[in-house]
Amino acid sequence: MLIKKLQRFTENEVTPKELYDNSRALISASRRQFLAQSSTVMLAAGLAPATLWASDELSSFHSNQSVLRSELTPYKYVTTYNNFYEFGTAKSDPAVKAQTLKTKPWHVSIEGEVGKPGVYDLEDILKRQSLEERIYRLRCVEAWSMVVPWVGFSLAAFIKQLEPTSKAKFVEFTTLHDPEQMPGQRGGSLKWPYVEGLRMDEAMNPLSLMATGLYGEQLPNQNGAPLRLVVPWKYGFKSIKSIVKIRFTETMPVTSWNQAASREYGFYANVNPQVSHPRWSQRRERVIGASLFNPKRNTEIFNGYADEVAHLYKGMNLKEFF
Ligand code: MTE
Repeated sequence: MLIKKLQRFTENEVTPKELYDNSRALISASRRQFLAQSSTVMLAAGLAPATLWASDELSSFHSNQSVLRSELTPYKYVTTYNNFYEFGTAKSDPAVKAQTLKTKPWHVSIEGEVGKPGVYDLEDILKRQSLEERIYRLRCVEAWSMVVPWVGFSLAAFIKQLEPTSKAKFVEFTTLHDPEQMPGQRGGSLKWPYVEGLRMDEAMNPLSLMATGLYGEQLPNQNGAPLRLVVPWKYGFKSIKSIVKIRFTETMPVTSWNQAASREYGFYANVNPQVSHPRWSQRRERVIGASLFNPKRNTEIFNGYADEVAHLYKGMNLKEFF
């Protein structure tokens, strides 16, 4: 089994690149299975399936991809140190408890100001998307970070297919609400279901990703299977997991963390070392899985993606709109 083989690497191994290169060889079989469906679609469209997974081409997608590759967080940490309150509030809970989540079949309801509303089978959605790998840093508001090789598709491309109306100013995402499968929803750590949102131009930014996998595998349940958002310039809580509803709205969505503690978690949630969380600084971050000798790094504005996204917030007071 893939996971067992990955665990052969020792805990203090800080050469995740090698680990990933090895894991790539190991996972080729599951990857083939994972991508088979999309490859079929690409072939039907006259495209070679290799375009789905040509790592050299993919790494040129963003200039920082090759730099980030050398910082990859080992698979073990990415999949055992999680925030997914539907399965408990401890970091170790989701890896143990999320196995009760049934991710197939999976439907996504498209609602609101959109030309193509409806309830879509995720498999049908995937047939129309081009899967690609993108290496993004996920920076949590709790001042830790990891670098993950996500697999997914462009949110912008998907939104275009759904034909939002001119009234669509925001996109609201909702997680599955099923206390039977998600034991954390039997308690009140948050108001359920988990809701997140983006301004339309943020959602249409080429960095916004709908993730369906990581490290070349299907998303493990604890990481938000089968479909989650990854918005790399924002704090991790914006990257909502196990999405069942996407609604296009005229007004700003009411989001879970903002509703729970509006002084601590704003709607924008852009990574910003200048704006402290009321209870702690956001200037530095602990690198999950790094060696003891290099435990922290300076946090960068917009998590290092300023070139791609700073224009979205031109003229805005980022201390007020945090
Ligand atoms: N999505 C849902 N539905 N529930 C959650 O509790 N936690 C968020 C985000 N998405 C969360 C969620 C937070 S706080 C973070 S930091 C990231 O997921 C963590 O993603 P990871 O566990 O894959 O690293």
